[in-house]
Amino acid sequence: MRMSEEIQQMLDENIVYLATSTPEGKPNVVPIGLVHAISDEELLIVDVLFKKTRRNLEENPEVAISFTDFKRLESYQLKGKAKIFKTGEIYEKAFDIMKDKAERRRESLGKVGDPEISERARKISEMHKRLKPRAAVLITIEEIYSHIPESKERR
Ligand SMILES: Cc1cc2nc3c(=O)[nH]c(=O)nc-3n(C[C@H](O)[C@H](O)[C@H](O)COP(=O)(O)O)c2cc1C
Repeated sequence: MRMSEEIQQMLDENIVYLATSTPEGKPNVVPIGLVHAISDEELLIVDVLFKKTRRNLEENPEVAISFTDFKRLESYQLKGKAKIFKTGEIYEKAFDIMKDKAERRRESLGKVGDPEISERARKISEMHKRLKPRAAVLITIEEIYSHIPESKERR
């Protein structure tokens, strides 16, 4: 299933929520910032902190991702299958995604006026510098749904 250019852009610009589950069906959902479409049918998520998510991915590849873009007033669910890469070309892409996202974060946080939030952002930035990709998770998209009722599914 192909993602539109717009969906690919929205993935880059928003926090998305990744749902996994145990083989028995117990769900787990986490926010994700390190996500990037590498083709119109595949996206990469960088595992820097996964725990339960990683265990679930190893035992059950079925995932769902949900996000809302408030700028465009669009909201989607994507479903697909995940594969974990710990070495090789796909894994190497995780470093580029981290670099690119760090740049985006710096740009958007530069616009924050509140000093308390700026300080929190600085601390988070420092923490991010110490994070290393443990794996790249390649998700092949199989289904796309709009969360907006009555809306035509735009892809
Ligand atoms: C805004 C935000 C973005 C996050 N982005 C990522 C990410 O891109 N990659 C990652 O491994 N963890 C990320 N995390 C951490 C995960 O959401 C989660 O805390 C981690 O997977 C541990 O939870 P789990 O045991 O359910 O997997 C992020 C957390 C927040 C609050």
